[in-house]
Amino acid sequence: MTIQWFPGHMAKARREVTEQLKMVDCVFELLDARIPFSSRNPMIDEVIKDKPRVVLLNKMDMADPRETQKWISYFEKQGIYPVMLDAKNGKNLDKVVKAAEHVTKEKFDRLAAKGLRPRAIRAMIVGIPNVGKSTLINRLAKKSIAKTGNTPGVTKKQQWIKVGKVLELLDTPGILWPKFEDQLVGKKLSLTGAIKDSIVHLDEVAIYGLEFIQKFDLATLNKHYYIDVTEEAPYIELFDAIGKSRGMKNKGGEVDYESVVELVIREIRNAKFGRYTFDRVDELEQDNVNIDEV
Ligand code: G4P
Repeated sequence: MTIQWFPGHMAKARREVTEQLKMVDCVFELLDARIPFSSRNPMIDEVIKDKPRVVLLNKMDMADPRETQKWISYFEKQGIYPVMLDAKNGKNLDKVVKAAEHVTKEKFDRLAAKGLRPRAIRAMIVGIPNVGKSTLINRLAKKSIAKTGNTPGVTKKQQWIKVGKVLELLDTPGILWPKFEDQLVGKKLSLTGAIKDSIVHLDEVAIYGLEFIQKFDLATLNKHYYIDVTEEAPYIELFDAIGKSRGMKNKGGEVDYESVVELVIREIRNAKFGRYTFDRVDELEQDNVNIDEV
């Protein structure tokens, strides 16, 4: 689903999340494991403030496992508790509950010391569109509750979902906007399906994706499309080779680039080639950027 973010919508979304946050003990910040940097809301720290937080790297089934491990270490170094997750297939759900217990332990110990009766941990999920918030809520609830493709700004009565004995989850996720001002981030968001509209030109998205795979996994690219391009081949050569190999030609017998663009984006989005992580910790550290300062 396409969500158009305008300043007014952003302010409203932020207000709504801020309100929801008052009701919870901790926040699950849901990210796409293929783009943990690009799928973060740019103001997330200001919004969450010092509320205990768990970063969930979702869609781990589509990300490069070695890179996911690096991201896990990266977040740990920052003092943030990370969990990698595959909400679609229900992998690591138990770790989500454990993480919530861990990050709220201090608070609940304090409450217990004051003689207050133990109660369930209250949590909510926050993230940009399409990172898998509804899928995760439904998984944790063990039934279909959150409508996939929910809309920010549509108010509904909020309810608590019991997740085992220790956790209660708000049934409405907090939806925040992505970092779409940056062109490269925009391409990565599009390539992973976080944004499906035309903030960035689709041909540029396909070029970025193809060049990424050409650089990091050339053999797979060649094998997947039955082509034989070199590491140095310019992108137009890749498009021509793929178009010819797949018989994507227009009436005049020329390669139909539009169809190739669509094909490439669809296949990368659905991890048809393999598992790739487009945000690399190494590059972030090389640039000496702190993820929270961007
Ligand atoms: P949202 O609430 O954050 O907007 O996201 P939502 O749950 O609607 O999920 C967006 C898409 O991501 C869905 O696919 C969903 O199935 C998929 N997804 C969620 N978590 C995972 C995961 O861990 N791994 C994989 N591979 N996919 C995941 P869709 O194409 O929109 O729908 P459908 O194909 O499931 O019908």
